[in-house]
Amino acid sequence: MTDCALPANSRIVVSMLRAEKSFTFIDLFAGIGGLRRGFESIGGRCVFTSEWDRFSRETYEANFHDNREVEGDIRPFAETPELIPEHDVLLAGFPCQPFSIAGVSKKNALGRPHGFLCDTQGTLFFDTAQIIAHHRPTAFLLENVKNLESHDGGKTFATIMHVLTQELGYHVSTRVISSEHWVPQRRKRIFIVGFRDKSSFDINKLKLPEDEGPTLGSILEHDVDSKYTLTPHLWKYLQDYAAKHARAGNGFGCSVFGPDDVTRTLSARYYKDGSEILVSQGEGKIPRRLTPRECARLMGYPDSHKIPVSDTQAYRQFGNSVVVPAVKFIARNMKRHIYAAVDAERPEAAPIRKVTRPDRQAAEAHG
Ligand SMILES: C[S@@+](CC[C@H](N)C(=O)[O-])C[C@H]1O[C@@H](n2cnc3c(N)ncnc32)[C@H](O)[C@@H]1O
Repeated sequence: MTDCALPANSRIVVSMLRAEKSFTFIDLFAGIGGLRRGFESIGGRCVFTSEWDRFSRETYEANFHDNREVEGDIRPFAETPELIPEHDVLLAGFPCQPFSIAGVSKKNALGRPHGFLCDTQGTLFFDTAQIIAHHRPTAFLLENVKNLESHDGGKTFATIMHVLTQELGYHVSTRVISSEHWVPQRRKRIFIVGFRDKSSFDINKLKLPEDEGPTLGSILEHDVDSKYTLTPHLWKYLQDYAAKHARAGNGFGCSVFGPDDVTRTLSARYYKDGSEILVSQGEGKIPRRLTPRECARLMGYPDSHKIPVSDTQAYRQFGNSVVVPAVKFIARNMKRHIYAAVDAERPEAAPIRKVTRPDRQAAEAHG
């Protein structure tokens, strides 16, 4: 029966039911829930969360009131994915440290493996893939650093794409998106979107906002505590260090920004000295760090976002997070494709049992 055949009041009920229609998602490597905010904004309902850092969990739980615990380590769940509830969409900002330029050079310097061979972190992609293989969600969104594409001469990314498209059979599009359309920060991140069934969604076709984005002045707090001003000692140290690197022809990340600027990328190490984004306090004055609330705004979090943890933890959490309006933008554009796929009858696809794990093969080959 079509809607037109119903009496007017029944049509209202039907459209109310439609308006309430929702989809479910799971939030892996959830951090403080940046991806979740994006998918809740299009009507998604989170049914499972995994985050092993207790401070991030504290922030997550202060901001999202679920009737269930936030789970810790995801790896045991990849071994027993049936313990994860059914879901339509899988979200995962799997750890970027094994692939980030800073993470790779540190590991190289220490003679340690990185990427997929870095056992504790790099292989988490395969745990995510294993969960996709078992549950076959309608769609997924994965997020990582831009450097994921070029890591190990492109081999890492090629492996990821092979698993997602060839082994799992998803229709995948990927795009590096920079955040300055929405927030006064340049933060380039790769977004990998997959649909289980053929879909016309292509992240490369999305039209990014054209108007100029906001500048730093729009997110600064007034009457900032003097504890955020650098000590004269640290300020001198940073300037000397920057001068030394400039003489050697290297760049060093000590940058002071004014209200009309757009900042560099906020990193998880911001708590150390804040040198990558310092706020000018006027000519001849020592600059200050951003406050945690300003970091929240720089990442596009609303002021209602609760920050129950220490400044150090808050800086780490925001530096690890996603720019919320960028995720909302992607989610809004995925919305009709998700709902169309969820509405369509789910084909009886047998789950794929195991994805290939080069990390384990390598370990097995070497005994
Ligand atoms: C890049 S951050 C993702 C941040 C998140 N997208 C957000 O909006 O805040 C990666 C997160 O994965 C978590 N993590 C790393 N290994 C994990 C594991 N084995 N199980 C669960 N969480 C893990 C880290 O604690 C970190 O919070």
